[in-house]
Amino acid sequence: MDKFLIRGGVPLRGKVEISGAKNSALPCLAATLLTAETVTLHNVPYVKDLITQRRLLEDLGATVLTPELRTHKVNAANVDIFEAPYELVKTMRASVLALGPLLARFGRAKVSLPGGCAIGTRPIDLHLKAFEQLGAHVSLESGDVVATAPQGRLKGAVIDFEKVTVTGTENVMMAASLAEGRTVVKNAAREPEIEDLADLLNKMGARIRGAGTSELEIDGVEALNGAEHTIIADRIETGTFIVAAAITDGELEIRGCRPDHLVAVINKLSEAGVEIEEINPTTLRVRRSRTGLRAVNVTTEPHPDFPTDMQAQFMALMTQAAGESEIVETIFENRFMHASELIRMGADIAISGHTAVVHGPTKLMGAKILASDLRASASLVLVALCAEGETLIDRVYHIDRGYETIVRKLSSLGADITRITGSSAEAEAA
Ligand code: UD1
Repeated sequence: MDKFLIRGGVPLRGKVEISGAKNSALPCLAATLLTAETVTLHNVPYVKDLITQRRLLEDLGATVLTPELRTHKVNAANVDIFEAPYELVKTMRASVLALGPLLARFGRAKVSLPGGCAIGTRPIDLHLKAFEQLGAHVSLESGDVVATAPQGRLKGAVIDFEKVTVTGTENVMMAASLAEGRTVVKNAAREPEIEDLADLLNKMGARIRGAGTSELEIDGVEALNGAEHTIIADRIETGTFIVAAAITDGELEIRGCRPDHLVAVINKLSEAGVEIEEINPTTLRVRRSRTGLRAVNVTTEPHPDFPTDMQAQFMALMTQAAGESEIVETIFENRFMHASELIRMGADIAISGHTAVVHGPTKLMGAKILASDLRASASLVLVALCAEGETLIDRVYHIDRGYETIVRKLSSLGADITRITGSSAEAEAA
């Protein structure tokens, strides 16, 4: 298993380019299953989850060409398998995104039920209920979800999600695009990744209105066509680099990003004493303010509020801010696993249920620590960058799932970071 060895204390300086959004590229790749024509996607980040998603498409019978590293040309004309096996689903929950497209285009799909994962139980009951409302028959057979459309085609319906679900909204958008008649989705997720997927689907001939708002209207069409689309910038990677500049007391120019996609994060970090200047619509200049970092409270909520995917990185920053910060996680249970590792490095954090209270600033010392999930790993890298001495982070396969060439990017900014042992997505991408 690969590890990162980080010697902290170097302020990061320079320019960094943001990659395409993992959480947008995953559903967009799944959407290619909706048509027999070729769909070309640009700016697909070269990270483990995307390699897994590509493998899933190929296992189903699609052809995937990559004329350039970050361009995927997918042709799903010859898909003849309608099933995502447990081996894939267990490594990547986003394989459930194959359900909607397969069910809509072929009238049947079988996807292994994702088990609990490190950040708690993550059910897909709301996806399944929505498919039933679209006329599908859904059953559970030995750990697999089996869904069929009795007349071969789904039927438009009104779907009112009882809880905001990102992947659930995406699955329904894809399924309803090929359903007969109109679907209305209420309490839809409003994440930028939803808008990006709707953009792609509309280029493919779908009729989706309202993406980015909490109500979607989708008029089903009989078939979708090929299209070409560029994936949006990763807002979570952007937020992570903003924190990296602030926590190391450096100065970064963050390029190719979409500040309009992370307004809540920028506002909160500004309140905490991070100077974030928008040089142009895709470039930010970031540094710690002269008055230093201040503790502020944060509560994670669905977009457009503060994202759960930035909670761990924010906690890392709060270990260096003056005062008491209360961090409330409302989206996922069990998403404070990074806290125990931060405490081992010297942070003062108390956890009670869904709330973490951080007292800062504290001097952090390098240690041997374990990554537990994708965003938790990012927070460990951040604290290691500002800690005194050496930190060895084990199980960095978590970070390889979602951060493109992180070692290369951080090294180019002056960080003393080395990947030790084994092959990795990053080594291949280099
Ligand atoms: C997506 C993102 C993930 C991000 C999360 C929250 C992808 C591939 N993943 O995950 O990175 O952390 O949004 O912004 O885009 N829920 C149910 N039943 C369901 C579905 C969800 O109870 O059928 C609950 C979940 O347990 C959770 C909440 O709803 O408490 C939100 O989950 P959801 O938005 O679906 O998260 P994901 O789509 O899995």
